[in-house]
Amino acid sequence: MVISMVAAEDLLFLKKIGLMGGLNGQVSGSSQKLAESLKVSPMTVSRRLIALEKGNLIIRSVKPDGQYVALTGPGEEALKKEYADYKRLFEENSGVFWIEGELISGLGEGRYYVSIPGYVEQFVKNLGFEPYPGTLNLRLGPAAVETRKKAELHGWVDIEGFTADDRTFGSARCLPCRINGYKCAIIVPGRSHYPDDIIEVISEVRLREKLDLTDGSRVKVEVCIR
Ligand code: CDP
Repeated sequence: MVISMVAAEDLLFLKKIGLMGGLNGQVSGSSQKLAESLKVSPMTVSRRLIALEKGNLIIRSVKPDGQYVALTGPGEEALKKEYADYKRLFEENSGVFWIEGELISGLGEGRYYVSIPGYVEQFVKNLGFEPYPGTLNLRLGPAAVETRKKAELHGWVDIEGFTADDRTFGSARCLPCRINGYKCAIIVPGRSHYPDDIIEVISEVRLREKLDLTDGSRVKVEVCIR
């Protein structure tokens, strides 16, 4: 049988039955008991079970002491298909993220902070490169902001705050990435609240020069999540 479209509600119910043991054996009990376990009304249980049976997704036998329900082969297939979709969804989201932005000029503060020895030492130790003194600022469109949020769920490298020359320097977080193969990192200052649609990137090279970039150039940042 081809399971073309299984209604979302049926699928949810099928999953619950599977989780209760209906995948490798059978689920039994009165409608009342099943309803309690499935957290729905007994009426919903009978309605759903009838629909699933009609769709050949479960088999059931109704006996005086209650009913016995088990998933059929097509029932199992329907869940497997759903599982494959989720797997693809999350695996795709744990590979490579491309965040594209437009180069803009900042306030010229990046150069100062990125060259402070207390930070440089940590960049070298934690990121594996000594950055060109400055940050490349990119403005992101709405789609890139979404990708950024997903990418930023993983893989941060902490840069600790410290005191030097009677001044306190705040912490930051870095997300390692690459631009045209060059080692880079998105850097987010710990305390400041930066807008979602701007990223600051440090890199092992002066990117404007290496990639011939000017304000307005489109830049693709590759974030690899392992
Ligand atoms: O003025 P702004 O905040 O944009 O710059 P900065 O952080 O002081 O960096 C100095 C200049 O180098 C800026 O034009 C940056 O766009 C550029 N830069 C670069 O080309 N490659 C880097 N890895 C970092 C900064």
